[in-house]
Amino acid sequence: MPPPLLPSGARSPTAAPIVLLICSLPVLFLLAYSAYPGGPLLLLGGGGGGSDPSSEGGNNNGNRKEKVAFLFLTNSNLSFAPLWERFFRGYGGLFTVYVHADPAAGVAHPGGVFSGRFIAAEPTQRASPSLISAERRLLAAALDDDPANAFFALVSQYCVPLRSFPFVYRSLLRSGERRRSFIEILAGEPGLSDRYVARGAAAMLPEVPFEEFRVGSQFFVLTRRHASLAAAEQRLWGKFRLPCLEAMRDSCYPEEHYFPTLLSMRDPEGCTGYTLTRVNWTGSSDGHPRTYLLGEVTEELVRQLRTDTGGPGAGGRSYLFARKFSPDCLAPLMDLADSVLFRDPRPGPNSTKCRLDDDDDELCS
Ligand SMILES: *[C@@H]1O[C@H](CO)[C@@H](O)[C@H](O)[C@H]1NC(C)=O
Ligand SMILES: *[C@@H]1O[C@H](CO)[C@@H](O)[C@H](O)[C@H]1NC(C)=O
Ligand SMILES: *[C@@H]1O[C@H](CO)[C@@H](O)[C@H](O)[C@H]1NC(C)=O
Repeated sequence: MPPPLLPSGARSPTAAPIVLLICSLPVLFLLAYSAYPGGPLLLLGGGGGGSDPSSEGGNNNGNRKEKVAFLFLTNSNLSFAPLWERFFRGYGGLFTVYVHADPAAGVAHPGGVFSGRFIAAEPTQRASPSLISAERRLLAAALDDDPANAFFALVSQYCVPLRSFPFVYRSLLRSGERRRSFIEILAGEPGLSDRYVARGAAAMLPEVPFEEFRVGSQFFVLTRRHASLAAAEQRLWGKFRLPCLEAMRDSCYPEEHYFPTLLSMRDPEGCTGYTLTRVNWTGSSDGHPRTYLLGEVTEELVRQLRTDTGGPGAGGRSYLFARKFSPDCLAPLMDLADSVLFRDPRPGPNSTKCRLDDDDDELCS
């Protein structure tokens, strides 16, 4: 993860989401696929589905259930695999999993829901276009693998869910609202101009004028339409993939700019502008956010991370995921799984949104 653009604390109100949505556009898809440097992206079996892809924002997809694709981007072991396993348990058919693991890292395959879900991967390096490539590879793999994938959530090995699967699912696939991507999009941040000229003063022109240049958390949840756009797009990518000048190394974090800039330019109305993944930049060091340690995992912490009550613009925003947690937090997180993390608030008497579809009203109980 790159260092924060802002001084510590400055981003805390906004930093945090990661969800990706997918809408089925097979043609675009194939394009994205074949246009991708490095050949076939995906070595997955299964997936797919017989029915026609749904259109973005459509609430009625016939009989096929839409899915949330979880895109794990990692360069070390998936220490929280057992927690995710529990998160997913019982909801087969409503999610898919894809893992991009840096091949140099020797990442162990955890089995279970991760079994056979590792996609063809290339080396990744912080603060380089290789992270964008990896994310596009994940998007393309998930788009191509399963037309039912409707949202695409990017997570890392340090991310944990703060809510139950049904809660996450219905938060994303809420009916009766226009679907938007949950991606942080910030303008006017200090340091943004240095980031902009990191490849040379005019390197981004004419495709990306400075006025259009944006920054945001790497962790997003995209709609299928936006996932297709980002996986296939070449014009901006041609710029963001350029190496930074040696002298600008400290301002080179293309992975924090490509997706927010692209979506801000192409479909700002289709984006929330904020992330669903909470991160704590207060007291960050070396550009890394606060990493929660073993002794810090408590019910109180989970509740604090779910809702951001402080800071301008926070406005009680709520989060579905959080980072970063050190690997030894697994045990205390597992202890809190059923009693706190995956325990939903009981739906109110007027709640009608808890049904996943006609077959799944039990998810609401
Ligand atoms: C990754 O997990 C494997 C299997 O559990 C283990 O053997 C290996 O030591 C782990 N690697 C690291 C760096 O912790
Ligand atoms: C964020 O980190 C700061 C500094 O370590 C700490 O005081 C604060 O309690 C943290 N906030 C949350 C929600 O954990
Ligand atoms: C539930 O619905 C009733 C009748 O429409 C309304 O009066 C009440 O305020 C609603 N309660 C909540 C918590 O929204």
